[in-house]
Amino acid sequence: MKNLTLLILSLILLVACKTENKFNVDTNLAYCKQQVEKSLPHLEKSDMMPRNIISDTIKSWHCTGIRDWTSGFWPGILWYTYESAKDTTILKEAERFSEALYPIVNYKADNHDLGFMLYCSLGNGYRLTQNHQYKEILLRGADSLAVLYNPKVGTINSWPGFNKKMNWHHNTIIDNMLNLEILYWAAKNGGSPKLAKIATHHAEITMNNHFREDFSTYHVIAYDTITGKKVAGVTHQGYSDSSMWARGQSWAIYGFTMCYRETKDPEFLKTAQKATERFFRDIPEDYIPYWDYDDPAIPNAPRDASAAAVTCSALIELSQYVDDPKEKDNYMQKAMKIIESLSSAEYQSRDKNNAFLLHATGHKPNNSEIEASIIYADYYYIEALIRLKQLNETGKLF
Ligand code: GLY
Repeated sequence: MKNLTLLILSLILLVACKTENKFNVDTNLAYCKQQVEKSLPHLEKSDMMPRNIISDTIKSWHCTGIRDWTSGFWPGILWYTYESAKDTTILKEAERFSEALYPIVNYKADNHDLGFMLYCSLGNGYRLTQNHQYKEILLRGADSLAVLYNPKVGTINSWPGFNKKMNWHHNTIIDNMLNLEILYWAAKNGGSPKLAKIATHHAEITMNNHFREDFSTYHVIAYDTITGKKVAGVTHQGYSDSSMWARGQSWAIYGFTMCYRETKDPEFLKTAQKATERFFRDIPEDYIPYWDYDDPAIPNAPRDASAAAVTCSALIELSQYVDDPKEKDNYMQKAMKIIESLSSAEYQSRDKNNAFLLHATGHKPNNSEIEASIIYADYYYIEALIRLKQLNETGKLF
């Protein structure tokens, strides 16, 4: 009898401990809302978008104009904040900053980033409000991005401005995978069906050329436009041409997971899984990667919280596409470990500044945005929280 009582008490204690330690999505979403509310009074001009906070002594965002590749993340954060809090003041702000992005589609596309800029902002806005103006701009944006597609190579020319300087004809960067989502969306929402074909072909060619044997990724692949063939694999933001740049690997995991969602091509799923396996090899104990896995300065190299946030959000989705419960569990456990680390005092900005997170690294070789607060780290962090909330409440993702 005494033994049974002891056993029951231990079980109750175990359950209590587990409950106490359980990650609280709502508390962290409330934290994000609080940081957004601290940021807003400093952001009067709607066409100036938060980008980074790099100094320990500055609390509010350094902003950039709407043509910067990061301009869609702040409106996107506002949409996610509105989605979780249903606060009409935040809704008005999300609308104000989203509308400020409209002129982007009047410029000729000069890089692949239109997807980041428009889909993270107006894409979320349209999903939540069905505003027809957002739809119109998104469709124009997708058409504009598709102009950069080269049918001989089979991919989008990510950085046309770099080709001359680098003596390339055409280049495609791994980040470009994320910008295929607006093409798939447009093809399903009144745009040309060709847009989805372009996206799928781009993903196939990237799958064939961007991965090394160990499933780490090159940042940039240069192509010959006469033969359509790959001519070089190099880096721009990583440590070296042969190194694994952490955020590039995250873009690959996220991009191929999304392409599997849109096509159900099992090769895309396999690619996302292999890229994930590589990401977690040599990961530090807290699951926040160094900015580049091959920086010889490790363990004294900077971390990149943005790569962790992108991977976390992607893994929550990836976990939904595998049948084996063990694999599902594996992806969810890894996502939870990342989100717990990101939500700790080590990585959340809290009173230090108005962002959500610290310790993201933007462009180390350029010596810019190192161990800083960066807007896209925050965007993918809140997206991961929203995905967890959706899974908890409905058992599925949007
Ligand atoms: N897409 C640019 C970057 O990841 O820094």
